[in-house]
Amino acid sequence: MTDTDQSIDLNHKYALDRDSTTLSRHVLQQLQSFSPEAQDLSALMNRIALAAKLIARRLTRAGLVEDALGFTGRTNVQGEAVKKMDVYANQVFISVFEQSGLVCRLASEEMEKPYYIPENCPIGRYTLLYDPIDGSSNLDTNLNVGAIFAIRQQEGEDLDGTAKDLLQSGRKQIAAGYVLFGPSTMLVYSIGTGVHAFTLDPSLGEFILSNENITVPEHGPIYSVNEGNFWQWDESIRDYIRYVHRHEGYTARYGGALVGDFHRILFQGGVFLYPGTVKKPEGKLRLLYESAPLAYLIEQAGGRASTGDQDILDVVPDHIHMRTPLIIGSKEDVALVESFIQERRREQQVEETLAPQR
Ligand code: AHG
Ligand code: MN
Ligand code: MN
Repeated sequence: MTDTDQSIDLNHKYALDRDSTTLSRHVLQQLQSFSPEAQDLSALMNRIALAAKLIARRLTRAGLVEDALGFTGRTNVQGEAVKKMDVYANQVFISVFEQSGLVCRLASEEMEKPYYIPENCPIGRYTLLYDPIDGSSNLDTNLNVGAIFAIRQQEGEDLDGTAKDLLQSGRKQIAAGYVLFGPSTMLVYSIGTGVHAFTLDPSLGEFILSNENITVPEHGPIYSVNEGNFWQWDESIRDYIRYVHRHEGYTARYGGALVGDFHRILFQGGVFLYPGTVKKPEGKLRLLYESAPLAYLIEQAGGRASTGDQDILDVVPDHIHMRTPLIIGSKEDVALVESFIQERRREQQVEETLAPQR
């Protein structure tokens, strides 16, 4: 074989290696083992990939299919109007995991109580937490939406069905990720060994590795927040927004779906905020299904996630649907937002200590 022949062979080898790094193979490689835990995680990710493909398939043709778009007429446990796609995607995860044998319990923002699969419980030691469709206001205009997930080891028997073991911090997550339904469908995940992105190749029906060991820049130009809530924010958040308005180097991007906005920041740097508002003092985003999974990812990518007062991953929920303010993204940008919040706190403390003397 000549040198040229060999280099052609090598080119093929690299291209095929890349094309054949599927999600389940990647999980096993990450854990460098075929231990039962590694095989469980690989199988779990495989099932999530199947759910993603089923949802992507329906989204792709949503405008042509009866009963895919629009509202159901019902509200969920958080009082939000439920869309038909929310119900469909919620059911997809249930169906996919009912057959898996691996997951004993699923908890989602669309279900008041966790959903048990008793036949899996003797063997299935895991709970799946998920937001089946994130950014559902984007559905009816064919814009990007997502799905968010986290996996926790089930602790205790939970015989009374109260899911008390879920009322622990996000540090208990053993895996987390999201699916972005955009121009292509991407699955981004972490099992505690960095953050990795896969793109669905529709011709293969497989998620193929596209970005390995993603790191978020220390600082980025993007700030992503619904500025229509300005009138409802605490003065500290307004101070931060005034700061970015008055300094060069910032650009606003807000797509109405956390997954999409987060994905851009993960790759390009910056900060996403959903602070408390007058109407929703704890903000809008749910800790167990949205904030904690993305906080796990951003920490794995070298960034930070904060409520303004503490790291998101340290927050212990008092009920499963609890919401928290969220500030997430590049380390420096999260720290800048926090500095405005802390500054106001200090001013308030000074005012409070001076008040009785007046
Ligand atoms: P969901 O569709 O799961 O209820 O989540 C919507 C969330 C999130 O995706 C997005 O960042 C935010 O709501 C948008 O809220 P506003 O319309 O208030 O900006
Ligand atoms: Mn959501
Ligand atoms: Mn949702």
